[in-house]
Amino acid sequence: MLSVVPDPVVVTVPAKVNLHLAVGDLRDDGYHELSTVFQALSLSDEVSVVPADTLTVQVQGEGAQFVPTDNRNLVWRAAEAVADRAGREPAVKISVRKGIPVAGGMAGGSADAAATLLALDHLWGLELDRATLHELAADLGSDVPFALHGGTAVGSGRGEHLLPVLARDTFHWVLALAKGGLSTPKVFAELDRLRAEGRPPRAGTPDALMQALAAGDAATLAPLLVNDLQPAALSLMPELRRTLRAGEAAGALAGIVSGSGPTCAFLCADEQSAIQVGAELAGVGVCRTVRVAAGPVPGARLADIEEGR
Ligand code: C5P
Repeated sequence: MLSVVPDPVVVTVPAKVNLHLAVGDLRDDGYHELSTVFQALSLSDEVSVVPADTLTVQVQGEGAQFVPTDNRNLVWRAAEAVADRAGREPAVKISVRKGIPVAGGMAGGSADAAATLLALDHLWGLELDRATLHELAADLGSDVPFALHGGTAVGSGRGEHLLPVLARDTFHWVLALAKGGLSTPKVFAELDRLRAEGRPPRAGTPDALMQALAAGDAATLAPLLVNDLQPAALSLMPELRRTLRAGEAAGALAGIVSGSGPTCAFLCADEQSAIQVGAELAGVGVCRTVRVAAGPVPGARLADIEEGR
């Protein structure tokens, strides 16, 4: 008898960059209070799920060798969380195809967890409402809710409370992927250490930045990009200073460390400029590789059957 192989459920999910990341003080729960503006970019991972006898995770793509495939991987915990909610076993094979840099400050692991929530909701026909998915996402990690949400949004709390932001038009970015990764907790800890020494300054409020987003004006937005984690990421990886300088010398409007780094994100005037800056940056040896991306894009979504093959 022929066995029928079920079609996988495939979800694509975007990377994020923080346009504004103001880090407050360390809370009693070990997290920092944040005020941030996220934007989802057209650099994505793909997560597919199929029924199986037991839970397994496999990861392919660039940097896959650095990603654990056991319960240290957030997709594993996402599968257990949905299964628990549904009162069933997490008997699925999860395949992750990486397009988002691993340990790059673009929330790739969080994105995969968000995609897993959506994929299993669909596979098991649960029809969980947005609030439930959001709650499961927030339990998994600070950036997981935004990966579900996408677009441009203000995040508060530890990053999990979201409000959509109006962003007119598309912004064009070049991403410089670094040779290694940075651990998010270590970058936050380095910021605490630098602050204990009395430096660096703290970001203000994102009001002007929100106006530039609403106007769709990249030139006005560029000088308003700010990331309190940047001095900490630069302290741990000083070579990123060269990357930031090189991007701006290549014609980007502004460069910033993305989240906890080490990916550097460069805002460009338009798509043509982004392609040129990307080509130039790729040639000067200040990063592992470059990607050109645009934002905002939607959050985690089911891939078309065609795309999902
Ligand atoms: O929430 P998530 O697991 O992604 O956070 C990873 C780590 O980053 C936390 O354990 C904490 O050290 C740090 N973090 C923080 N404040 C936040 C978010 C993350 O200190 N708001």
